[in-house]
Amino acid sequence: MSGQELIRLEDISKNYGAFHALKEISLSVDAGAVTCVLGDNGAGKSTLIKVLAGLHAPSSGQMYVAGEPVEFSSPRDALNAGIATVYQDLAVVGQMSVWRNFFLGQELTGLLGRLKEQEMKDIADRQLREMGIDLRNVDVPVDSLSGGQRQVVAIARAIYFGARVLILDEPTAALGVKQSGMVLRFIAVARDRGIGVIFITHNPHHAYLVGNRFILLNLGNQVLDATVEEVSLEELTSQMAGGGELETLSHELQA
Ligand SMILES: Nc1ncnc2c1ncn2[C@@H]1O[C@H](COP(=O)(O)OP(=O)(O)OP(=O)(O)O)[C@@H](O)[C@H]1O
Ligand SMILES: [Mg+2]
Repeated sequence: MSGQELIRLEDISKNYGAFHALKEISLSVDAGAVTCVLGDNGAGKSTLIKVLAGLHAPSSGQMYVAGEPVEFSSPRDALNAGIATVYQDLAVVGQMSVWRNFFLGQELTGLLGRLKEQEMKDIADRQLREMGIDLRNVDVPVDSLSGGQRQVVAIARAIYFGARVLILDEPTAALGVKQSGMVLRFIAVARDRGIGVIFITHNPHHAYLVGNRFILLNLGNQVLDATVEEVSLEELTSQMAGGGELETLSHELQA
């Protein structure tokens, strides 16, 4: 399974009225690999995710899942194609317990729609443990988890429900070093289980720790598509900073 192409975008563009948020973006996501999408604020990263997740139809271009052309008209279509998205703000309800969140929208029910509470608790507990997440108790409200733990629960949930492609929108943006490390470790776990991961981030260091392929967006343009063999961390960092722009800024600030 590893290495198989799960998703391919060909010349995807997205216009908001007269504004071109994405201009002919092409990328691929392979099973068991991490494709990183990097770019500054307003680069078009979230727009790209919304296209992949079925929230927005592209203005032009073609998307393929497992080699077949697809058109998503809702997030449900993307989910059915095995594409799970973990948004930055997370679709979790803070007051709810971890296990309820884990099964949110996909509850196990028995006779007359009664919730199979104990079974769901046991499964959530086992799945989280198997991924190496020890929460002591899946009855605690999600509010009581750290930001990193919440991301990791969302990743475990997507894996459990059979995601083949996992999209993570800036999962480390609000986290400190230690918690970012935890999230990056679970991105690697998902990758090693054969999932194709799309990892959106501002941070080239985070991207380079787990990435196999790097796409860099700048104001809707794709300015880089390189494999980890083709680009060094230094090059990636300098490209992110707009090449010479950071150097110019540094001279300006010193002057
Ligand atoms: N619904 C919309 N209508 C009009 N313009 C939009 C819409 N959504 C996004 N844009 C514009 O498209 C551009 C790209 O936005 P997008 O949210 O994709 O960027 P981003 O790379 O995710 O940025 P950030 O790092 O700040 O999250 C921005 O200039 C934004 O203002
Ligand atoms: Mg964004």
